[in-house]
Amino acid sequence: MGRVRTVHRCRSCGGSTPRWSGRCPACGEWNALVEEVLAAPVAAGGLGATLEGPLDPFGPEPGGPPARPQALDAVDRSAACPRPTGLAELDRVLGGGLVPGSVTLLGGEPGVGKSTLLLQVLRALAASAGTVLLVSAEESAQQVRLRAERLGPLAPGLMLLATTDVSAVPGALAETDPCLVVVDSVQAVFDPATAGVPGSLAQVRACADFLARLAKHHAVPFVLVGHVTKEGTLAGPRTLEHLVDTVLSVEGDRHHALRTVRAAKHRFGPTGELGLFEMGETGLAAVTDPYRLLLGDRRPGAPGSTVLPAMEGQRALLVELQALTTRTAPDTPCRRSAQGVDGGRLALLLAVLERRAGVALAHTDVFASAVGGIRVTEPAADLALALALSSAFTGQPLPADLVAFGEVGLGGEIRQVPHAPRRLAEAARVGFRHALVPASCPDGPPGMEVLHVRSLAQAVELATGSTDRTP
Ligand code: TYD
Ligand code: MG
Repeated sequence: MGRVRTVHRCRSCGGSTPRWSGRCPACGEWNALVEEVLAAPVAAGGLGATLEGPLDPFGPEPGGPPARPQALDAVDRSAACPRPTGLAELDRVLGGGLVPGSVTLLGGEPGVGKSTLLLQVLRALAASAGTVLLVSAEESAQQVRLRAERLGPLAPGLMLLATTDVSAVPGALAETDPCLVVVDSVQAVFDPATAGVPGSLAQVRACADFLARLAKHHAVPFVLVGHVTKEGTLAGPRTLEHLVDTVLSVEGDRHHALRTVRAAKHRFGPTGELGLFEMGETGLAAVTDPYRLLLGDRRPGAPGSTVLPAMEGQRALLVELQALTTRTAPDTPCRRSAQGVDGGRLALLLAVLERRAGVALAHTDVFASAVGGIRVTEPAADLALALALSSAFTGQPLPADLVAFGEVGLGGEIRQVPHAPRRLAEAARVGFRHALVPASCPDGPPGMEVLHVRSLAQAVELATGSTDRTP
């Protein structure tokens, strides 16, 4: 065997240099060089062209005659059986686990915990199910080891391939015969025979397509990490979403411990389940009591605070919404700050409060937030947020055991929202006794008094017991 050749490749411009340096000599980007093992050259025309060539990474085709039609009820279902990942909370989101031969795209903002979550899955499977393979294109072998040790003792079956070159994956797959392959990330790997820098649309598509075919051919589940841009889309690859079987997203505020995992697309199971994790010193742990994080430090009876039974996927989750208003300093524009709530809906609610409910916040700085690092963007949050705003403005607290939900229309009317019974049931379970809801909402469970409201003005009056809105 020949000597293993390595270069250092820039993640930013794709240029390579034989020696590592803190800064890419080609584009000047700092900390962008990653060591890469040079694989044997592949046939011209991209990795796809090697399918028929002598370097076929998929090995001989499984043989037999060409595909023929078959009766659907004769199809073997067992091949699509999910296998547990070793993380029960993740398995719940996936409807049992990962299906052999499937490709899952795990998206999320940088730093949210994607690599940590997958390393935990790899460690769990290496300890229980056999060899697993991590293709690390973003972090060096040493960095991965340090992180893995932080999570607990290492299992010998966790194999690491530190490369950015996808053409090195088939060889590693043949050598290690893993039961799971993780590629971290799809934006950092590249296909040497496709033009463009790593992360470019052409590269991301070529690599994902290659890895998907590899997964199907070897009947091994692959998980690809995909970074999400600030705008909330998977960078480059919206096109990837139809190429993969499952799209999972990890969300959460970096300054808070809570992380949510949900399936945006799932060919093998439901998409409504929500996984809750808490980022701690030893990685992500399943959250059994979300209200310790979401409502634990709540000050009941403080003005500007309401509780919303929000829907996160199919799950109702109680979230505290807070508002604070102060007089705007002279000759300065009004400040409007929305954290974890939709800025556009906040502006709409301020307008409706002023015109339809007589709560005039025009010359006031307004700060609104959802507590606990959770993001609430559904219109059902309107009523709770509007009540928090009016309560903050008047200084009158809302009852501590009250929840509210409903969409607010431009006419000041309260509109119905989906999953009302589930929202009420969760609020009652946690101990809330009163709910302000749209007029069409069904009655609540025993012990819960449901107050139906038709307009925002009526809701404000009922909640704070006063119609005088002058501060
Ligand atoms: P990481 O998994 O690297 O995020 P991503 O792959 O999505 O970019 O996680 C990043 C953050 O998680 C990092 O800021 C450190 C923190 N962290 C912990 O708080 N506890 C831990 O045990 C680990 C491994 C990471
Ligand atoms: Mg990462």
